[in-house]
Parts: sequence; structure tokens; C-alpha cells
Amino acid sequence: MNEQNEKGNGALAAKPVLLITGASAGIGKAIAHRFAEEGYRIVAVARRLEPLERLAEELSPLSEIAILSGDVSQPEIAQQAVNLAIERFGRLDTLVNNAGAGKWAPVHATDDETLNEVIEISLKAPFRFCRAALAVMKPGSSIINVGSTFGLIGGLDGGIYCAVKAGLIGLTQTLAAQYGAQGIRSNLVAPGVIKTDMTKDYWEADAFKRINAEMTPFDRDGTVEDVANAVYFLSSDQGSYINGQSIALDGGWATTKYLSMEALTAERVPKARA
Ligand SMILES: NC(=O)c1ccc[n+]([C@@H]2O[C@H](COP(=O)([O-])OP(=O)(O)OC[C@H]3O[C@@H](n4cnc5c(N)ncnc54)[C@H](OP(=O)(O)O)[C@@H]3O)[C@@H](O)[C@H]2O)c1
Repeated sequence: MNEQNEKGNGALAAKPVLLITGASAGIGKAIAHRFAEEGYRIVAVARRLEPLERLAEELSPLSEIAILSGDVSQPEIAQQAVNLAIERFGRLDTLVNNAGAGKWAPVHATDDETLNEVIEISLKAPFRFCRAALAVMKPGSSIINVGSTFGLIGGLDGGIYCAVKAGLIGLTQTLAAQYGAQGIRSNLVAPGVIKTDMTKDYWEADAFKRINAEMTPFDRDGTVEDVANAVYFLSSDQGSYINGQSIALDGGWATTKYLSMEALTAERVPKARA
């Protein structure tokens, strides 16, 4: 548990509080579990009520949880979520901006509707959640944005997904510069491909295996727990001098030019243009 965050006054302020978006499935659910295991009280946001209620039931033996059902792209929901944290728990220690739109298409095939939707969910919403959270956060607090390796290095067919995830890195860095001196740290985790509802449809496709497994210099796939552990570390006292960083959680995919022996020896075909 974050020792700095245990110094509140009175029962309402005693235990630290996590606010997380996209909390009811995949990476967000694993993060909510990890923080609850460490004694955090949780404010969980997602669109559908029923998965949120299931999460609340799962976490209830471990901690207190308040749920808020709504789309993060609605401008008022960030303030509502922060208000909920303060009204129910009296404080806010960690914000994790995890909800994101996994829309994947090349630039030439992206219409304005998709462009706006992805920007709303994956960039404007995190910005608003940060803005609302900063108004109540105290020294020792921390913001973690969930980016992507595709925001670090771009990626074929990534389009607006790559652009907003790269934008989150800029947001994280400016937050770090602006609020670090007040003891509020900001960092980003950039997962590689993790098996969740967002990616499960691609998992068995040959092309997907090529760009994922065969280019990753590691002996297993990444898991939601890998991401949750890193997010918890960054928000804890053990990460207390880490500020403004973007950390790839991808087994070395984004920082090496690895190819498996199978890929290295495969027949070479000419490059196709987009
Ligand atoms: N999985 C990967 O390989 C991977 C890799 C790199 C980065 N990421 C990033 O990690 C984050 C989580 O991805 P995931 O794979 O865990 O996704 P997931 O399994 O599809 O879960 C998404 C979660 O976010 C909620 N959500 C989605 N859109 C929302 C919205 N507009 N407003 C509020 N809540 C919303 C979903 O619940 P509702 O549907 O009920 O709203 C669900 O709780 C995303 O930002 C994604 O870009 C994922």
C-alpha cells in the first residue's frame, strides 16, 4: 500500500482511493483487482452497469467499491467520477485512464465519425479526467495513462489509434512537468498485445501472430496481470521518483528488431503499398 497515502485524517480519509476508467473488463479489471488487494478503495467507471456490478461483487470481500456507469466521452462524467470519489471516500490518490477505443484502420480508410469517436474516448476523456482529478489530488498522488506500444512506434493500419496513444504520451509529459513539483506524478504504460475482449478476435490470425509472437523476443504472451503489476508499481512508493515516463510492457517488442527463426527463414514476398 502507498505509505504516503495512509496519512489522511479520520476513517473516511484512511485508505487510499483509485479512480479507474474501463474498469469492468480486461486490463482495467485486473488493475482494479490489484489495487483492491493492496487495500485501495475503488471508483470504477465503464458504460455497462451489469459488468460493473459483477466487479463490485468480486471486489467486495477485499475492499469498498463505488461504481459509475457512463461513457467517458460524455464531458460531465469525469467531474461526476471525481465527485463520487470525494463524497464516498473523501480523497483521490490514483487516477488510471484506461478506457480506450480499439478502432483500427489506416488513415485513408478512417471517416470523420471514427476519427472523432476515438479522439473523444481515448484523448479528450483522459484529459478531462486528469483535469478533474488534479483539483482534488494531494502530494503523493499519481496519474497513470494506459497508452500502447503502437503509440510509441506507430504501426501499420494504426491510424487514429496510434495518433491518440502518442497524444497520451504528450499529455503525460506535460502533466509531469506541470504538477511534479506539487508531488503529483504522471506516467504512462504502453502494453503490447494483451489477450482481452479488444484483441481476442485477432489472436489466432496468422498475420497477427507474425507481428506479435514472431517479433517478440520473449517466451510467453503478455497478460493483464503484467499491466496491473506495472501500474500498481508506478503508483506506489516504490515508484515514487518515476515521473513523465512511458513504459513499454511488451516483452521487448517495441525496442528490438527481433524476428523469430521461423520468420527470418520464411519466403520473402514483395512489400505491398497501403
Ligand atoms: N488489449 C491490448 O492488447 C491492449 C494493448 C495496448 C493498449 N491497450 C489499451 O488498454 C486499454 C484497455 O483495453 P482492454 O484490452 O482491456 O479492453 P477491453 O477488454 O475491451 O475492456 C474495455 C473496458 O473499458 C470499458 N469501456 C470501453 N469503452 C468505454 C467508454 N467509451 N466509456 C467508458 N468505459 C468504456 C469497457 O466496458 P463497457 O464496454 O461496459 O464500457 C471495459 O470495461 C485501452 O485503452 C486499450 O487501448 C490494450
